[in-house]
Formats: sequence, C-alpha cells, structure tokens
Amino acid sequence: MSETSKNVVIIGANRGIGLEFVKQYTENGAKVTAVCRKASDALKALDCALIEGVDVTDNDLQSRLISQLAVDKIDTLIHNSGILKGDSFPDIDVENMKHHFDVNTLGPLRTIMALKSKLREGSKVGIVSSRVGSIEDNSSSHNYAYRVSKTAVNMLGKCLSIDLKDNGVAVALLHPGYVRTEMTGNNGHIEADEAARGLIAQMNELSLNSTGIFVHSSGELLPW
Ligand SMILES: NC(=O)c1ccc[n+]([C@@H]2O[C@H](COP(=O)([O-])OP(=O)(O)OC[C@H]3O[C@@H](n4cnc5c(N)ncnc54)[C@H](OP(=O)(O)O)[C@@H]3O)[C@@H](O)[C@H]2O)c1
Repeated sequence: MSETSKNVVIIGANRGIGLEFVKQYTENGAKVTAVCRKASDALKALDCALIEGVDVTDNDLQSRLISQLAVDKIDTLIHNSGILKGDSFPDIDVENMKHHFDVNTLGPLRTIMALKSKLREGSKVGIVSSRVGSIEDNSSSHNYAYRVSKTAVNMLGKCLSIDLKDNGVAVALLHPGYVRTEMTGNNGHIEADEAARGLIAQMNELSLNSTGIFVHSSGELLPW
C-alpha cells in the first residue's frame, strides 16, 4: 500500500516525539489523525485531522475516539502518550506510581481496546515504551514509577502481539532513544525528529513475522 493511502493515528500528538510523528507521517503522504488533550499551535499548523479532549486515563476513551475518528481501518496506530516524574528509593510515592501505571500502562490498553474494531488484517500498532523498562538492562535503578510502568507496558504489548496475530495485526514496543524533549528537560542524545524518523522506519519494517519485538529507533533489538 502506498503511503498516501495509509491511515495513521497518533495518540499524544501535541508536542515532543508525538508531534514529530504527525509531522513526518503527513510529509510522507499519510492521512494522519492526531489525538491529544489540547492541541498546540504547532500541531494545529499541520495538515492532519485533530481529535482533542482525549486523556488516556479516561475509562470512557472509546466513545470519544470512535465517535470522532473518520476512518474505517487504521493502518498504523501509535500510542505515544507518557509521563515521567522522577523518584528514587526510599522516597517513593505510591500515588505517583499508580498515576504512572494509569497513564503509561493502562493508557495504551485503553487506546487499543477502544480502537480494536478498526485494527484489521495488515494493521500495525506501535506502543512507545522505554529502554528503562528493560529488567535486564537496568544497572542504575531510580525512576521506580516510570520504570515499573514501562516494564508493565512491555508485557501488555507482548500479550497483545500474541492475541492480535490471528487478526493479522502486528504490535511493536518502541524505544525512541534518549531524546531532547520536555520529558527529559531537553537533555538527551538525539532530537525528536531523529527519534520519530527511526521509529517510523521500524514501524515500516514491522510484520507478523517480527510482531512482539522491543526495538530502539536505531533498529537495535532490546532485551526484556
Ligand atoms: N524523551 C525521551 O528520552 C524518551 C525516552 C524513552 C521513552 N520515551 C517515551 O516517549 C513518549 C513521548 O515522550 P516525549 O519525550 O515526547 O515527552 P513529552 O514531550 O513530555 O510528551 C509527552 C506527551 O504525552 C502526552 N500525555 C501525557 N499524559 C497524558 C494523558 N494523561 N493523556 C493524553 N496524553 C498525555 C502529553 O500531552 P500534554 O501536552 O497534554 O501533556 C505529550 O503530548 C513517552 O511515552 C515517553 O515515555 C521518551
């Protein structure tokens, strides 16, 4: 299928890596629906359909999304929304941990359950996770709430890759790299445009043969 006939949905689209996903997919000729809580001027300036007022912690996400989504089949769905509020042992706030789980783990689950009827043979789902959710790769601790929520979303995505395979839907867990955005206080190794470009390349490569991977924007397969 050519890029111009592709329907792409980005959840968490108004800034950072999500905004770059929208920008690059539209530049590639895809028909993009950008989903966010409140659109930034930068997002409004892009040539995409907009669905505002969507918070991924909302259990009623489905009615909001489905009623406004003007596409029959989603070719590529990217759940990008996420939060990071740092913490370290023993100063761990349980409510903060619950909030991270709500946004970073249950958020993607709500999105995918809400849009399940629009994911068909050939559709692809990317969940933006993080390398710091890797148990094997953890040598520095800190960020308990964030790490635990991303480890959990990796398991969620792996389960979904198995359950959606019979429907012809491939799922990938995506790590953008260490990216200069608001989340990192503009610290990082790469800019958001490089991260999005790499992740779009990984999504283009994704197939039912590779479904269930945990992959860096560079293409490196990551340990769980
Ligand atoms: N930057 C990095 O180095 C890095 C590394 C690994 C993984 N990641 C992951 O990459 C993704 C994007 O991060 P980023 O660096 O671009 O961060 P960012 O600039 O802070 O953007 C986060 C995005 O998530 C949205 N969001 C947060 N809570 C939400 C909610 N409850 N409902 C709907 N949307 C919500 C934000 O929307 P609002 O504007 O409405 O708040 C914003 O669009 C995240 O999943 C993050 O964990 C980032």
